[in-house]
Amino acid sequence: MEKPHSLLSQLVQAYDQLKYALLEAQTFHPGHYGFPPIYYDIMEADPLRIGAFKRAFEQYDFEGKTVCEAGVGRLALSRHYLPKVKKAYLFESNPALFDFIKNEIAKNGWAHKVELIFEDAMQVELPEPVDFIIGEMMSIYCANEYQVQVFRHLRKHLKADGRLLPQKIINLAQLAHASFEEGHQHYPIFFAHHLPELLSTQQVVNTLDFYTVEATVVKTSIPILPLLSGEVNAVFLQSYVQVAEGCNFTGTDSLMPPTVCQLAERCQVTAGEEVLLHCEFEYGTSLDEARFWVEKKQ
Ligand SMILES: C[S@@+](CC[C@H](N)C(=O)[O-])C[C@H]1O[C@@H](n2cnc3c(N)ncnc32)[C@H](O)[C@@H]1O
Repeated sequence: MEKPHSLLSQLVQAYDQLKYALLEAQTFHPGHYGFPPIYYDIMEADPLRIGAFKRAFEQYDFEGKTVCEAGVGRLALSRHYLPKVKKAYLFESNPALFDFIKNEIAKNGWAHKVELIFEDAMQVELPEPVDFIIGEMMSIYCANEYQVQVFRHLRKHLKADGRLLPQKIINLAQLAHASFEEGHQHYPIFFAHHLPELLSTQQVVNTLDFYTVEATVVKTSIPILPLLSGEVNAVFLQSYVQVAEGCNFTGTDSLMPPTVCQLAERCQVTAGEEVLLHCEFEYGTSLDEARFWVEKKQ
């Protein structure tokens, strides 16, 4: 077996080469929204991501309930509640996964209670109201994937006392200075090596409530107090997810990693002199289309 320090040495040599590797792995196929196999491997190897959903499943009573899950992938979340439920409507649009899903459902003896819908979850109606709607199609700020649109479409089928999982996302930003290679507007942090220089504390940009969200465009301006003087050319973004009350996920390499996004214009800031951070982005587009800029107060 390779010695850990030899693996580490290879990794150190590859830092720059890997700067955008996570971004590439997380880029979905525009035709069916699916990912390359490596990204399913990364997601399924993450105990924090899966653990937050597992704890939420344990918090509620799934026994004999009717569930809809959008974007089941390789059933990493579904397998934790399927043994208990009465009926499950499972959506997946990535054709590379269809056979795997069918086989897993049959192998585990769930076929009699599972309806597989290999279509876009935004285009299909459910035949009955459900107790739970589950979906992990998130990305930082929900900018790149259609989580908001899918939940907005499906939630009309939720019973009055039904639950959405996840329920809420809080998006946060910090003033930063980073280096970007030609052609790149944003990148997720894969290694601390690529962290930007941070010039302020973190501030809440917006809170997204899946039960009520309607607008897909967010335009907001928030005051931020720089702690350090310097040139700001980026924002350092994080998203905190409440899967259920007390069952949180705050970003790892597998999902919503802290992400650095280039500002529309660089700006010199001074420690202690408050500035305004203007933010404009649209759910389900691309963070490359988001606009962040800093305005000095007069
Ligand atoms: C981030 S992965 C998560 C997979 C799985 N839920 C898990 O937690 O491991 C999202 C999955 O949703 C699927 N997906 C994305 N948008 C979809 C849509 N509109 N309808 C159906 N499936 C979708 C993708 O193909 C992908 O397999």
